[in-house]
Amino acid sequence: MILDDVSFTVDRGESVAVVGPSGSGKSTLAAIVATLLRPQSGTVRIDGTDVLTLRSSRLAAFRRATIGVIFQQAELVPTMTAVENVALPAMLDGLDRAAAERRARELLDEVQLGETDTPAGDLSGGEAQRVGIARALVGSPALVVADEPTASLDGRTKSVVADLLYSRLEAHGAGLLIVSHDPEVASRADRVLRLEDRRLTAQLAEVH
Ligand SMILES: Nc1ncnc2c1ncn2[C@@H]1O[C@H](COP(=O)(O)OP(=O)(O)OP(=O)(O)O)[C@@H](O)[C@H]1O
Ligand SMILES: [Mg+2]
Repeated sequence: MILDDVSFTVDRGESVAVVGPSGSGKSTLAAIVATLLRPQSGTVRIDGTDVLTLRSSRLAAFRRATIGVIFQQAELVPTMTAVENVALPAMLDGLDRAAAERRARELLDEVQLGETDTPAGDLSGGEAQRVGIARALVGSPALVVADEPTASLDGRTKSVVADLLYSRLEAHGAGLLIVSHDPEVASRADRVLRLEDRRLTAQLAEVH
């Protein structure tokens, strides 16, 4: 068993960080909450839906409409521009190209990306992660799950991307579950959950 007796809630507009040593199960937890991994037992309820009851085709649509995911690397399509990368999930969800690209440009403006028409493969790590944040928000999700979103960035870039992530998520009223081994990044969350030996060992309230 990878995780045992882990129970918590993330409200809309709230940020919750998950910290803990390597191998403690943080990425496993993030993948379960993002509906990318199915636990052997337990319940995952997102925006009122018990997601483990959904079949795979409905789950994919539910995920696009309700959950945004951000990984350590932005995982963009390198040959597509930033705008096209952000617009893609919206188009998969049925929006026409013009409307999807308009929405993508608004979100890229919010994360202050100037290079909107550059192929994503030519962007710096920090720029790519800004695109990742915009893409996670394009479906107006209830929840964004971010697994080590700043771990490949350093210094000032890390801090700027963390600021953007927290501030944009709050502005859009989405919940944020963020895994980070970086105390500076994790401590900005409203609450910090600690995983140890694959169990939730402490729930530290952070007052801002
Ligand atoms: N599909 C799997 N089947 C069995 N064991 C797995 C599977 N995926 C991960 N594990 C194991 O579960 C444990 C938790 O892994 P996980 O990747 O969630 O840790 P983590 O806290 O994210 O670590 P890190 O900080 O290094 O990223 C590890 O011991 C890992 O080897
Ligand atoms: Mg991990």
